[in-house]
Amino acid sequence: MISLPRVAIRRQFLHLLFTAFLAVATACANEPVPGLPTSSGGVLPATGGVTAARGGTTGSGGTATPTGGTTTTAGGATPAGGTTTISGGQSGGGAQGGSPVEGGGAAQGGSAAQGGTSAQGGTTGQGESGGRSTSGGQSGSRAQGGTTGQGGITAVGGSGGQGIPDAGAVDASSDAPVVSAPGQAPAYNGLRGQNFNSGWKFNRGDVTNGQNATLDDSTWRSLSVPHDWSIELAFNKNSPAGSGGGYLDGGIGWYRKTFTLDPGYSGKRILIQFDGVYMNSQVWINGTSLGTRPYGYSSLEYDLTPYVKLDGTNNLIAVRVNNNQPTSRWYSGSGIYRNVWLTVLNPIHVTNSGVFVTTPTVSSTSATVSVSTEVQNQSTSSQPVTLTTTISDPSGASVATNTSAGSAVGANSTATISQSLTVSNPQLWSTTSPNRYQVKVEVNVGGSTVDTYFAPLGLRTAVFAAASGFSLNGQAVKLRGVCMHHDLGALGAAVNYRAIERQVEILQAMGVNAIRTSHNPPAPELLDICDRLGILVMDEAFDCWESAKVSNDYHQYFTQWAQTDIQAFVRRDRNHPSVIMWSIGNEIPNPSVATATNLKNWVLAMDTTRPVTWASVDTSNTNNQAVAAVLDLQGYNYSESRYDQDHSAHSNWKLFGSETSSAVRSRGIYHTPTSQNTLTSSDNQCSSYDNSVVSWGSSAESSYKNDVSRSFVAGQFIWTGFDYIGEPTPYPWPAKSSYFGIVDTAGFPKDIYYFYQSHWTTTPVVHILPHWNWTSGTTVTVFVYTNCDSAELFLNGVSQGSKTFASGAVHLEWNVAWASGTVRVEGKRGGTVVASEEVKTAGAAAKVALSADRSTISADGRDLAFVTADIQDANGVLVPTAASSVSFSVSGPGAIVGVDNGNAIDTSAYNTTTRNAFSGKALAIVRSTGAPGQIVVAASSSGLTSGSTAVSAQ
Ligand code: GAL
Repeated sequence: MISLPRVAIRRQFLHLLFTAFLAVATACANEPVPGLPTSSGGVLPATGGVTAARGGTTGSGGTATPTGGTTTTAGGATPAGGTTTISGGQSGGGAQGGSPVEGGGAAQGGSAAQGGTSAQGGTTGQGESGGRSTSGGQSGSRAQGGTTGQGGITAVGGSGGQGIPDAGAVDASSDAPVVSAPGQAPAYNGLRGQNFNSGWKFNRGDVTNGQNATLDDSTWRSLSVPHDWSIELAFNKNSPAGSGGGYLDGGIGWYRKTFTLDPGYSGKRILIQFDGVYMNSQVWINGTSLGTRPYGYSSLEYDLTPYVKLDGTNNLIAVRVNNNQPTSRWYSGSGIYRNVWLTVLNPIHVTNSGVFVTTPTVSSTSATVSVSTEVQNQSTSSQPVTLTTTISDPSGASVATNTSAGSAVGANSTATISQSLTVSNPQLWSTTSPNRYQVKVEVNVGGSTVDTYFAPLGLRTAVFAAASGFSLNGQAVKLRGVCMHHDLGALGAAVNYRAIERQVEILQAMGVNAIRTSHNPPAPELLDICDRLGILVMDEAFDCWESAKVSNDYHQYFTQWAQTDIQAFVRRDRNHPSVIMWSIGNEIPNPSVATATNLKNWVLAMDTTRPVTWASVDTSNTNNQAVAAVLDLQGYNYSESRYDQDHSAHSNWKLFGSETSSAVRSRGIYHTPTSQNTLTSSDNQCSSYDNSVVSWGSSAESSYKNDVSRSFVAGQFIWTGFDYIGEPTPYPWPAKSSYFGIVDTAGFPKDIYYFYQSHWTTTPVVHILPHWNWTSGTTVTVFVYTNCDSAELFLNGVSQGSKTFASGAVHLEWNVAWASGTVRVEGKRGGTVVASEEVKTAGAAAKVALSADRSTISADGRDLAFVTADIQDANGVLVPTAASSVSFSVSGPGAIVGVDNGNAIDTSAYNTTTRNAFSGKALAIVRSTGAPGQIVVAASSSGLTSGSTAVSAQ
């Protein structure tokens, strides 16, 4: 018998499933309940019916009767960020209000510095509107601040785009800094570098000699990066991206930027950094090729110095991008989708990512900090170099300093200088107190500081043990993790700091303390955010090695490029306290011990302080076991059933669930019976009762139990935190985005979010599902997710009984004869009601109600407001089956950059202003234009009362 790897078997199974499903789609079980409103004309079918779980009857007929209003209790606290932009010179200025040291920037070139910072704390209450009101909730606030200097570079030509601005891109007219945190150049390169995002020209499609200055690009589109051209396209059933890539085309595109440089840069080194270009980028400066980089998830740098003109005449950077799909098993995006930086350095300087900070000893009374700095001398003579290295604490105060002995660094050579510093009574970095220190390295030559490099620092110990799992600072911590792909829903892959931050905030409020960057190096911004918020990171390099998973993926380049890519990745990310392990690959087909060993050794050459792991799909396979033997941690994908036997057979293995569950669900959709796994249904949706699970996966409840019951397992990373574009398992077209997410692509939590929240947080949680729009005669299975000791359910004020958790139960359950009105749950601890929630029957849709995630955003041309439209009845109750078409508009200094609803089968474009609601909700993403003022977002829908909300851009 031919033995196929499990991945291959699974893909085959899926393929068969798809084919079978297409053939019998209409014959599938779980038809919507007759009589419930079913939309027509290309919009969604209504939610499926509910059947009594224990021998009950199937609901039928009728529509819901509206009942009274609802109350909304403000819940979580969401911080508002703040930035200040300065121009003409250099940065400086610390953050205020709790963000300690991010504001400082290295001084380089340009003219006089202008300081200035701003930070804003503040909280914005958020509550769910409509038919659900909750008391209690999560809170937390923080503040941000900082500045970035710009100067010395002038973009020539280029203007803002027209109509809908580019997703995630800044209008070229607003040359606001795009920063890795508000006010920051990338931490990975020392906070050096000037934003180089504006003033690009773009042409989709190939051109001949696009690098030549003589080429006329006047008809090309003007835009700013980060830019993802794929997200702007219509979904294409026949796209070479396939369903995995979300049916969005890639292809070839060109970017060109014309700019002049300050003559004062004479004698300096001028470098360009791309945080990521997807993919197969080739870069030219003034017609000279600087190189190619196949891997679209790597950050890269080129030295422009020999080729640039400093006499005030134009320079031209040209970038050709080739996303020859299929190239990833998920949506990748296409183009210069991450930030670009220009860095101007003196001839003697720290190399790219050239400061490596480690913490050989950390205790609550003292920490030693080792700083190793690569100093490059590109002058023509040997130079005496001293380094002054200073550590500042979370408040910005200097707490340790060291000046190195003088070292002669020879002409055209690089020297590594090591220093050791001690921090007394350190404030440790942890998931609950993510205290951030900062290391500043000043390079001194002849009494002058010629370069300043800032590196992040968190003082913590992170230890994995075979018998006891993971511990942080000596305390056992379960990794309550999620896997994440990198797209930002309607913004595609185009990096936007706030969009990433919002994702992490939503996950953290659920109790997540760890993120896996499946299956590629992340945007640097993600790691800055994880450092700041206290999220642990499994930082992953590759989805494949030598063997393909899709035809044009990285396997084509692996042999030639793997060392370069993995070492650039580790160098870039190694100072982040959030990163606790390096993953060299995901579910590698036919892995060789030799390759695993090479990869591990390449990692160790850059960082010996973190364990090296991978995500293994089948630990019973002897080949996989041989690879496991050379790795430090064993990541298990969907192999929890082997935890116990592997733990006893390999008592030295340190185990964790690198990928678990893969349960699928659609927000607000319920398929019954709840006790039966129902993967597919005629509505092309999946069930939110945690009863829709792929063959290789397990329900959320089951994977939770497998993890929580074993202290030797370090934790798990659930597939996935957010839905992502692509891989719409289990459905073919028109499904185009995943169903795996705990949160949908729009950022709206599905019911299962509250399951995790009830087990992963301690603040009282009660959550009822399903919605309460059913029909007379229906027995509804009600789930309550809670971390209270007991809960009592009421229907229209009548108790349906109080329940506690039976042995092994992780949710509470009632069967209730449906009646229109209000279902309410009260959660008790120690006999006292500490949380409650109620869900009301909605009447006919009557109005659109808007709410924004924050009332104030930064007027920096980058910051975003996420505006939710709820379709409500006349009493303000969310209509849970509404699919009304919502048209958004904006007045004031804001622009809509994307719309979404989280519906996996909605193939309408993301970069428009109209969206059908899905399960009663739609989203508009609004970006500040760069000017301060009041942004008013309005939404209308035929036959409904319009709504509006205001956001202040400051
Ligand atoms: C895993 C794979 C993920 C995703 C997932 C879906 O095997 O690592 O990338 O495809 O399956 O269940």
